[in-house]
Amino acid sequence: MKGLILSGGKGVRLRPLTDTRAKQLVPIANKPILFYCIEQLVAAGITEIGIIIGETGDEVKAVVGDGSKWGVDISWIPQEAPLGLAHCVLVAREFLGNDDFVMFLGDNMLELELASLVHQFINDRNNDSLSCRVLLKEVENPSFFGVGVINDEGRVIKLIEKPEEPPSNLALVGVYFFTQAIHEAVLAISPSKRGELEITDAIQWLIDNGCVVDHHILDGWWIDTGKKDPLLECNRLVLSAVVGDIAPSAVIDDGTDISGVVQIGEGSVISNSIIEGPVVIGKGVMVSDSQIRPFTSIGDGVQVFGSILKDSVLLEGCVIDKAGLINASLVGSNSKVSGSTGSADSNTLLLGDNSIVDLS
Ligand code: DAU
Repeated sequence: MKGLILSGGKGVRLRPLTDTRAKQLVPIANKPILFYCIEQLVAAGITEIGIIIGETGDEVKAVVGDGSKWGVDISWIPQEAPLGLAHCVLVAREFLGNDDFVMFLGDNMLELELASLVHQFINDRNNDSLSCRVLLKEVENPSFFGVGVINDEGRVIKLIEKPEEPPSNLALVGVYFFTQAIHEAVLAISPSKRGELEITDAIQWLIDNGCVVDHHILDGWWIDTGKKDPLLECNRLVLSAVVGDIAPSAVIDDGTDISGVVQIGEGSVISNSIIEGPVVIGKGVMVSDSQIRPFTSIGDGVQVFGSILKDSVLLEGCVIDKAGLINASLVGSNSKVSGSTGSADSNTLLLGDNSIVDLS
């Protein structure tokens, strides 16, 4: 079984942050989203992983490296343009060979036991001539996703990409299990109205041509992280499960009050502040005369002076200086926010990298 992670495409919905970085590299609890995908595949025993990359490929390669930190081989598969999820399978043909594979969308975060699903798929595809298994989850807004219709036997009988009138509330989650049958399907389909080779159309082709496609309902949470609020929700979910860890080299003065589950990285200095977990603080961070309230992730080298942060993600190197209350915000790396007139002000920001905001 191989793994195929899709990390090409463009992240228009997280602009301006994704003007300067790949959306799959935006951190959740100080770890790039893409790392969670890789780690789930690795935990499922998959050691051959192909990653589709597009125009942000160099950056993705630099951050991920050669896979040795997870003990896996990574094959980089360039895609000339974001021509669709089924196009990714086309360009990965050589890497995939005739093996079964799990396809994982590099911007999806989800709580799942991938190892048991992989074993179930390997078992069932031998016994039931299964060609594909999709993961489905009930959602309130199915029009935003691919939508599946299932019959009484659990077979998938129809899939439609972002339908205006959804035939069910079962959305396609970004993890798919395939056998080599999918290769004929991706060659047979044509681009959709939005000009993409849709994986939903390729799976529909399998169904229409007599292949068995079934489903698994995802019990855990699932977030398509491409927008600010879902991304912050995801940050909250991941922070809810972190384990406390304060590096021995972190310096915390007596005027600081720490409660709840808190991670503080090497060389960080915290003075005269309140840190209320769950909170993750990176390396070399400086916090003084401030409050870091629950569900905040602070990247390496950030400096916070005289401010309150809550329910927010700050990327590396930001400076937050007397900025009042920063709430429900996503702040790009090396940005500077300052000048709020009072601590009662509540500011919600979505800033790209290197932004400068004067709130006065
Ligand atoms: O998140 C689940 C949804 O993902 C499914 O319900 C939909 O059926 C499926 O089509 C997909 O929809 P999105 O519109 O959200 O896909 P997006 O364009 O955001 O791409 C998903 C990931 O795949 C993302 O990491 C970028 C990458 N990608 C995308 C395209 C179109 C590529 O690597 N190459 C591509 O050509």
